[in-house]
Amino acid sequence: MSNCLFIHGDARKLPIDPKLIDAIVSDPPYGLLACDLNWGKFRGKREWDKEPATNVECLIDGVARAVIWGGNYFRLPPSRGWLVWYKRDAVQSMANCELAWTNIDQNTQLFDWPIAARNFERVGHPAQKPIALMRWCIQKLKLKPNSLIVDPYCGSGSTAIAAEQEGHRFIGLDLDRDYLKIAKHRIDHPNRHIPRPGRVEHHPLFDRLEEPV
Ligand SMILES: C[S@@+](CC[C@H](N)C(=O)[O-])C[C@H]1O[C@@H](n2cnc3c(N)ncnc32)[C@H](O)[C@@H]1O
Repeated sequence: MSNCLFIHGDARKLPIDPKLIDAIVSDPPYGLLACDLNWGKFRGKREWDKEPATNVECLIDGVARAVIWGGNYFRLPPSRGWLVWYKRDAVQSMANCELAWTNIDQNTQLFDWPIAARNFERVGHPAQKPIALMRWCIQKLKLKPNSLIVDPYCGSGSTAIAAEQEGHRFIGLDLDRDYLKIAKHRIDHPNRHIPRPGRVEHHPLFDRLEEPV
């Protein structure tokens, strides 16, 4: 039986006592739809990304360990332990790095891994994170086995799969029932999600592709 629970709910009303949570590992909306980026046909799929999540500071309050992807979009305290994801195959119009704020006193570190949009993990979420990336950031938290990880903005469940593969329990929330169904499906079919590097090397041709073919 899986150790993951998915709840259709609003992260701004998190129904979990922070004292029970060992770590928040999340990837909230950054508000990128409002930025001057060429979203093309993906614009309609990012309605949830009109503005940055407003409650991130509250979410981490009282939680022992936290990783917040897109930490540079939120008002978070100074930290020594930022995590950097280098997306070497990102198209030219995209950022080739993403930043995660953590509340861990550790050196800032870099992870070099292709974007999920270009590899076999792709399940239809426009902001899907690679499982390997989420496993890497969970490992940085040095949690005890069977810890409870919460992702209040869980989307297609990449954090859930990573948490389970790292031997932890997981609770995820999302406002979108369809994403939760995808997340549940991914947890129920684990063998399809063994992380390995994407197959696509960087090539100028890919700069014109919006979607894997
Ligand atoms: C950046 S995506 C997370 C993607 C996820 N890391 C993955 O790999 O699939 C942010 C998610 O937050 C959800 N969301 C937006 N506002 C929310 C809210 N107030 N409460 C819960 N979920 C919300 C969106 O539906 C979206 O799936």
